[in-house]
Amino acid sequence: MAARIGIFSVFVAVLLSISAFSSAQDLQIVNAERRIDLSSHIVKAFLTLKVENIGKDPAAEMLLAFPPTQIKNLAMVQALAITGKKKKKTYLPLDVKPTEQPDAPNDTGYYRVTFISPLGPGETVSLEVLYILTHSLEPFPVEITQSESQLVYYHDSAVILSPYHVKQQTTFIKTPSTRVESFTSIEPANRAGKEIKYGPYENRASYSYTPVIIHFENNSPFAVVEELVREIEISHWGSLQITENYRLTHGGARHKGVFSRVDYQSKRSVSGASSFNALLAVLPPRVNSVYYRDEIGNISTSHLRTGFRKSELEFEPRYPLFGGWSATFIIGYRVPLEDYLFEASDGRRYLNFTFGCPLVETIVNKLTIKVVLPEGSKDPSAVLPFTVNQELQVKYSYLDIVGRTVVVLQKDNVVPTHNVPFQVYYTFKPIYMLAEPFMLVSAFFLVFVASLAYVHIDLNIVRK
Ligand SMILES: *[C@@H]1O[C@H](CO)[C@@H](O)[C@H](O)[C@H]1NC(C)=O
Ligand SMILES: *[C@@H]1O[C@H](CO)[C@@H](O)[C@H](O)[C@H]1NC(C)=O
Ligand SMILES: *[C@@H]1O[C@H](CO)[C@@H](O)[C@H](O)[C@H]1NC(C)=O
Repeated sequence: MAARIGIFSVFVAVLLSISAFSSAQDLQIVNAERRIDLSSHIVKAFLTLKVENIGKDPAAEMLLAFPPTQIKNLAMVQALAITGKKKKKTYLPLDVKPTEQPDAPNDTGYYRVTFISPLGPGETVSLEVLYILTHSLEPFPVEITQSESQLVYYHDSAVILSPYHVKQQTTFIKTPSTRVESFTSIEPANRAGKEIKYGPYENRASYSYTPVIIHFENNSPFAVVEELVREIEISHWGSLQITENYRLTHGGARHKGVFSRVDYQSKRSVSGASSFNALLAVLPPRVNSVYYRDEIGNISTSHLRTGFRKSELEFEPRYPLFGGWSATFIIGYRVPLEDYLFEASDGRRYLNFTFGCPLVETIVNKLTIKVVLPEGSKDPSAVLPFTVNQELQVKYSYLDIVGRTVVVLQKDNVVPTHNVPFQVYYTFKPIYMLAEPFMLVSAFFLVFVASLAYVHIDLNIVRK
């Protein structure tokens, strides 16, 4: 019997793999438009695809392919299905997951996009895909002086890498300025102002790849946080305390030669064009007790604007950051608990806070978020729209009896699109709220008894 089930499941598995394989082959891309935005150091690519099922069976999903050099720097892939025409267009988010294919040519990496409903034979669907690449602009020259502008290389393919035949496609690449030193020309290709256009190209076979290199000026701040640890402490006594530890680096061309502060301050437009000294953090509305300090102490060069929907903290490190330089600092603030802590319908409590990094247009190589729950919290579980590493720790602070549960969320390669709400659910018995006052009372009582005893002993000594 067991053997029969075994054979049967092998048979099913074979069937499934055949159908998955055939669906991968039986799609074609009728039309593709790709817009790659190179204006900051975070590369954003928008793909509009019209996909047709040219097979005999319904297709439930499609594959997006990426060359190995991009797969390792891919921070996010999102897809939307477009339904309706012109003005009545609606966008529905689709499930997108990294996946592997057994016979991937040239180490191609894949993401699987699941359609809302299977695409019938002869049917088409329009999709919008956004993908974001980090660390994909390579400074060249690798070292520049204070007076030089920063030039970088961007490598890609003039045609979209795809496991499907692409009937027609065009790619537009936007550069931050009109200074483009060179770009590979694949006919038809042309450049006008800040835009380079590749295509239209007709009928490219699956896995077509035509490497191109673009060499251009990019002086946008290459703000890379090598490591960010955000601690979010929930106190049932009314506030959420957030403490953020940053190690920030300028990820652009390395600075060479001496740094002249005089040049930097007097000729700001030409001197240190690629450096940055002002940072902007977007903090929650109703933020209070904001501080900004480093290992030396408090830094006063910061301005806070609180608003109805968000607050903005503008601040400056002690020195401007040039390529390869780094700065470590801490930002701390409080927000009212009632804005972020709620009760779910099942009686559990939950924190609803923003993931990611508050600094604008910043890449975080390694992000750790520690949610410190109140003492006595149980069964924590985190809900996020993408995968992160999770673990539990215990933190002890003064007056804690059993310690506090800390939910640790860790993710690499984080970009601003990861700044979305996440939740941490937990159960909590209000009786534990009495634990701290109880400890305080007991402490006072102990001190009282001790001093009484002391006085008593003292008196005894006096009597003798
Ligand atoms: C793999 O890469 C080689 C060299 O870059 C290229 O000639 C070949 O066509 C590629 N194969 C496929 C299936 O893309
Ligand atoms: C730094 O600023 C914080 C908050 O404003 C304040 O509580 C603290 O005393 C300051 N520390 C020093 C060393 O000035
Ligand atoms: C979390 O907060 C966001 C707005 O900040 C809201 O849109 C979302 O519905 C909230 N999620 C839950 C589960 O409460």
